[in-house]
Amino acid sequence: MPAFGSGPEYMNHVALACGERWPALGLGTWRLGEDNGLQAQEVACVREALDLGYRVIDTAEMYGDGGAERIAGKALADAMRAGVVQREEVFVVSKVYPHNASLGGVQLACDRSLRRLGLDHIDLYLLHWRGSVPLAETVEGFARLAASGKTRHWGVSNFGMDDMRELMRASNGAQCAANQVYYAASSRGVEFDLLPWMQQRALPMMAYSPLDCGNLARDMRLQALAQPLGLSAAQLALAWVLRQPGVMAIPKAGQPEHLRENLRAAEFALAASTLEAVDQLFPPPKNKQALAMI
Ligand SMILES: NC(=O)c1ccc[n+]([C@@H]2O[C@H](COP(=O)([O-])OP(=O)(O)OC[C@H]3O[C@@H](n4cnc5c(N)ncnc54)[C@H](OP(=O)(O)O)[C@@H]3O)[C@@H](O)[C@H]2O)c1
Repeated sequence: MPAFGSGPEYMNHVALACGERWPALGLGTWRLGEDNGLQAQEVACVREALDLGYRVIDTAEMYGDGGAERIAGKALADAMRAGVVQREEVFVVSKVYPHNASLGGVQLACDRSLRRLGLDHIDLYLLHWRGSVPLAETVEGFARLAASGKTRHWGVSNFGMDDMRELMRASNGAQCAANQVYYAASSRGVEFDLLPWMQQRALPMMAYSPLDCGNLARDMRLQALAQPLGLSAAQLALAWVLRQPGVMAIPKAGQPEHLRENLRAAEFALAASTLEAVDQLFPPPKNKQALAMI
């Protein structure tokens, strides 16, 4: 398998092993769908994201107990009805709970997610984190889902180096299309081993909580670094994550101005001097670290 290339064309998009290319910046949906009273507002926000050009949406059966999938599905249906997007133009990512990740469990969980999303397939279906179901069994379940057309790709989340190596040894494990992990300027442990290992295998990393749950947008030191560049701290934090080939970022934003700001972050290439300044604020790892999780 070829390693990822580098250069501007890799910044805005990430290629899956099959050659499909998707925007490197997507939308997270954690904490949506938790309050029925906010439903219309949240659907409007995700719809706005689609209007603005977001084409990757990350959700999970866990978020809002399925509520986030309903919000994402309604927004997507609205946008498709209005002719803003066609189904094949949007990359929908969802995740199965580890306790639902048995051979039969993934089929049922996926059916429930599809019903909530109002879709006939999920583009990327992830194991949310490792649980007690043997990995080989989950992979077999994922392979059956993909064969049935209910998912197009499968992958994992919160997998560290040892988990990834074990996955690669499982039958069909190498079909894994992505690993979604916590990666932000303030949480760089994956740079020591997992990220280079995945890049060598052209296996995309999806960076979750790339704004460290909003903390980086409020970080005064990052704000001071970003302002002379004409960027917000959030944009700098996102452009920094996206500087790496093969890395996607899925910030959650509930405000239209944040949606716009974040989308533009994928366009900025950061100078070496800026990267050095970020290293001063958030030093890269010097040794192996346990995988950070939120
Ligand atoms: N696989 C996993 O285990 C896992 C774990 C955690 C998260 N995730 C996924 O990753 C997504 C993103 O992570 P996250 O939601 O934890 O955190 P995040 O994206 O790092 O941060 C979201 C927070 O940042 C704020 N924000 C967004 N854009 C901003 C901007 N331009 N300026 C200022 N503030 C801004 C948002 O506020 P507003 O909403 O007010 O705009 C929100 O409070 C999740 O939604 C979820 O889809 C996956």
